[in-house]
Amino acid sequence: MSNTPIIEAIKLSKQFTKDGDFVLNSLSLSIPKNKFTAIIGYSGTGKSVFLRQVLGLDRATSGIVRVLGKELHNMEPAELNAFRKNLGVVFQDSALFDDQTVLENVCFPLKEHKRSMSEDKRKAIGSEKLKLSGLNEEHFNKFPEALSGGMKRRVALARALVLEPKILIYDEPTTGLDPVLKQKVDELILTTHKRRSSSTLVVTHDLPSALHFADHIVMLNAGAVLFEGSVSEFLKSSDNLVATFREQGLNKYGKN
Ligand SMILES: Nc1ncnc2c1ncn2[C@@H]1O[C@H](COP(=O)(O)OP(=O)(O)OP(=O)(O)O)[C@@H](O)[C@H]1O
Ligand SMILES: [Mg+2]
Repeated sequence: MSNTPIIEAIKLSKQFTKDGDFVLNSLSLSIPKNKFTAIIGYSGTGKSVFLRQVLGLDRATSGIVRVLGKELHNMEPAELNAFRKNLGVVFQDSALFDDQTVLENVCFPLKEHKRSMSEDKRKAIGSEKLKLSGLNEEHFNKFPEALSGGMKRRVALARALVLEPKILIYDEPTTGLDPVLKQKVDELILTTHKRRSSSTLVVTHDLPSALHFADHIVMLNAGAVLFEGSVSEFLKSSDNLVATFREQGLNKYGKN
């Protein structure tokens, strides 16, 4: 069904230790298909913990999370591995393999998931995605240590794109980048989203960018959803915590 959310959480809770705090606390949300969704919120509110549930890297204490209609925690490891080709992920630290060149890094998911594909074909696809991400051929045979932070994120994006995933997920894609690189990475994320007309999910601290790019905003607080809706609804919300976060987030970047 076209209106089925790509990601749906129902009363999702997570407690790391038996007597510990609930870092996800009955979190329910629906992330719409073919939209750009931003997840925002203060540090420590459970954004990355939630993302790990979506990626099937961790298991909730209770509740349900469905990705493309499937409950990941019911899957066998082989099924989960195959399912992950639907999800392209760019982690905050880019998470490249240090002992592989740029091109090898980007071709790695093809090697894993398209075993019958020839090496030449893999390299052709990897090169195409690197070029789309704005990297020239002169960098293809370099190792990650020789790249800047912004370039590494481009390689990570190319690697996330290589299997043409249904959902692209970014965790803090621009944190730690200088303003020029930040703008370039932001533009790349947006043009990639528009070119593919697929679903994009970005976890970010950068409120102005989130409000600029996103169709759908989710604000987490204390492991639950405090706000979920459109940008204009977010801008109008009279909830005290939303209003405070909005003012702080916009002031910080000098755009009040
Ligand atoms: N493996 C873990 N074991 C115990 N507690 C954890 C674990 N991972 C995260 N937490 C706790 O869960 C809470 C939410 O963490 P999370 O990383 O999701 O925050 P966040 O919203 O992504 O913050 P930030 O914006 O700083 O990235 C924090 O209090 C954190 O200490
Ligand atoms: Mg985080």
